[in-house]
Amino acid sequence: MDRQVIYADLNLSKGSYLERPSAPSLPRDICQGPPWHQCALKLGCAGMILLSLIVIGLSISVILLRQNLSVEESSAEVQENRNETTGKPDLLECPKQWQLLQEKCLFFSHTSNTWNYSLGDCSKKESSLLLIQDPEELTHVQKLIHNEFLFWIGLNLSLSENKWKWINGSFLNTTALHIFGYTKENSCVYISLTGLFSEDCDTDNKWICQKEPKPAINKVCSGS
Ligand SMILES: *[C@@H]1O[C@H](CO)[C@@H](O)[C@H](O)[C@H]1NC(C)=O
Ligand SMILES: *[C@@H]1O[C@H](CO)[C@@H](O)[C@H](O)[C@H]1NC(C)=O
Ligand SMILES: *[C@@H]1O[C@H](CO)[C@@H](O)[C@H](O)[C@H]1NC(C)=O
Ligand SMILES: *[C@@H]1O[C@H](CO)[C@@H](O)[C@H](O)[C@H]1NC(C)=O
Ligand SMILES: *[C@@H]1O[C@H](CO)[C@@H](O)[C@H](O)[C@H]1NC(C)=O
Repeated sequence: MDRQVIYADLNLSKGSYLERPSAPSLPRDICQGPPWHQCALKLGCAGMILLSLIVIGLSISVILLRQNLSVEESSAEVQENRNETTGKPDLLECPKQWQLLQEKCLFFSHTSNTWNYSLGDCSKKESSLLLIQDPEELTHVQKLIHNEFLFWIGLNLSLSENKWKWINGSFLNTTALHIFGYTKENSCVYISLTGLFSEDCDTDNKWICQKEPKPAINKVCSGS
């Protein structure tokens, strides 16, 4: 760029000198009456300043253009990455060994124990025994059971009211879900491939815990 400016300068002065004969013919009021060489000098200076301004202007626009391009590029990158993570339906994550089902993370125990033990184990895992909202959810959970095992859920008999009660305090809607078996003292509910059944709470069964999924971690936070 420096080279360009210097070259232009010399060129201009040359041009001015070559135009000597025509210089004095300029109107007097422009150059305010000084001899022709002062006038030429002024014209040269003006040309040089003009060229400098043009060069500076061009440089600035080139810099701005480059910045614009890189901004567009990076925003395109962010957009892409957003699609990779938040654009898909699996934007929710479960811990290892937990399965995502609808809006829940489910844990299927490998060992068997009493209902009360299951309650405590889920609590230790910062979760609760499975709650089932409706027949649809029942079917979805059953699809994840690939064996003949029985799994405790968060439903037992409240003796005082003689009603099935979820561990969140709500009573079972018996219109929506049916429990097979007796309703007697110390009864708890398990889920199997065939439905929901009551059984003595001290029986050893496997169990299912549920907890809220967490939003998947966006791995490109440092993108911008
Ligand atoms: C990203 O998502 C936007 C809107 O959600 C969509 O218009 C665009 O096509 C998606 N791009 C890709 C690469 O999936
Ligand atoms: C359930 O277990 C807790 C401790 O984990 C105990 O305090 C409680 O008595 C037990 N309840 C029943 C009904 O077994
Ligand atoms: C408790 O869980 C049951 C089964 O999912 C649900 O129908 C009920 O609305 C819940 N109650 C509360 C207070 O969250
Ligand atoms: C039934 O569950 C409640 C908690 O929802 C608990 O307090 C009660 O001891 C349980 N009953 C039995 C027989 O385990
Ligand atoms: C019980 O379930 C039935 C069938 O799903 C539903 O129509 C009804 O509104 C439910 N009752 C309550 C109190 O949630």
